[in-house]
Amino acid sequence: MYATYIFPRLMDWVLRGQRFQTERHRLLTSAHGMVLEIGFGSGLNLPHYPGTVTALHAVDPAPLLLDRVARRVARAPFPVHIQRVRAERLPYSHATFDCAVSTFTLCTIPDPVMALCEVQRVLKPGGRFLFLEHGRSDDSAIARWQDRLNPFQNWVGCGCHLNRRIDQLVSEAGLQLDHMNRYALPGVPRIIGEMYRGVAARNGQPPPSKPVSQAPS
Ligand SMILES: C[S@@+](CC[C@H](N)C(=O)[O-])C[C@H]1O[C@@H](n2cnc3c(N)ncnc32)[C@H](O)[C@@H]1O
Repeated sequence: MYATYIFPRLMDWVLRGQRFQTERHRLLTSAHGMVLEIGFGSGLNLPHYPGTVTALHAVDPAPLLLDRVARRVARAPFPVHIQRVRAERLPYSHATFDCAVSTFTLCTIPDPVMALCEVQRVLKPGGRFLFLEHGRSDDSAIARWQDRLNPFQNWVGCGCHLNRRIDQLVSEAGLQLDHMNRYALPGVPRIIGEMYRGVAARNGQPPPSKPVSQAPS
């Protein structure tokens, strides 16, 4: 009941606030060409994509607020294709997208590194991953509170984690950080408002699935 009816409305209401709109707009100005969005939610990024986007392919396993999504998709000036699948296993060929986007989603995906390995796989050479996420604080006192409150957030946020180090997840997946901004969102409690906004590039080499051991010479 909560996960199906209450949480999606709460999420849509909170995440469409003016502060979040400004954040989305900042992130998405460099999106272009064929774009993949993981964790599409209720489509709140749609009005912020610039005219350089030619098509959007979005994945999200949950069919959230379908009437609102349909209205937002109808207003988009480019084709939007949505698939009800998990980002950990993307149904696209290698090197399909110019750009991939995740906003407020890496906190929730059960295996974020696997999802990011998939993002790396489907990005074209030179493709970019744009992310806007909340995560673990660098302040150890706040991070301890994030660890303590994480089980509660997990329940109330339907799988959301407070304490993931987003830059580490990006690097573990083999993506290369171009740049990243770390800041606290004004007016939001630090445990939930520690922001990671950045751009990472597809690496030339796919990440090894296991640590590579050196053969003795
Ligand atoms: C907090 S919402 C953010 C929605 C949207 N990205 C936004 O910025 O408004 C997190 C989203 O991640 C989605 N999600 C959860 N697990 C996922 C997975 N394995 N792969 C892709 N998306 C997932 C949820 O269904 C939800 O829509």
